[in-house]
Amino acid sequence: AAPVAYEAEAATVFQGAVDSDHAGHSGTGFVNFQPVTGAYVEFTVASDRATDATLDFRYANGTSANRPLDVRVNGALVADNRAFPATGAWTTWRTVTAQAALKAGDNTVRVTTAASDGPNLDKLTV
Ligand code: GCU
Repeated sequence: AAPVAYEAEAATVFQGAVDSDHAGHSGTGFVNFQPVTGAYVEFTVASDRATDATLDFRYANGTSANRPLDVRVNGALVADNRAFPATGAWTTWRTVTAQAALKAGDNTVRVTTAASDGPNLDKLTV
């Protein structure tokens, strides 16, 4: 199927703000995680069948440090401490990918800060 984009600002956000002060994001903004471990964004991804999927997370990280996220699908950890490396500027957006099995119907895709802050998260494309 054609890729579908899920904007972070339209997802369920726990301990994060929707901001729009850095150019280049899609939609109306992005999620700025609070500087805590355990903050998350959870997307609901509908799949018409059980399938292996590529999850593309578009983000920016204007610091010089990695801002890792744990990726869970339907509650199961599929990428532990996935690196979201520095992108050089908050206006420079890149994509990090994870592979996951989806079931038919609705799936939850949750990304959670694994260290004391996360990148700015723009969207998930599946
Ligand atoms: C800056 C930047 C934010 C970012 C934050 C961070 O304040 O403007 O968009 O989220 O740094 O370090 O997480």
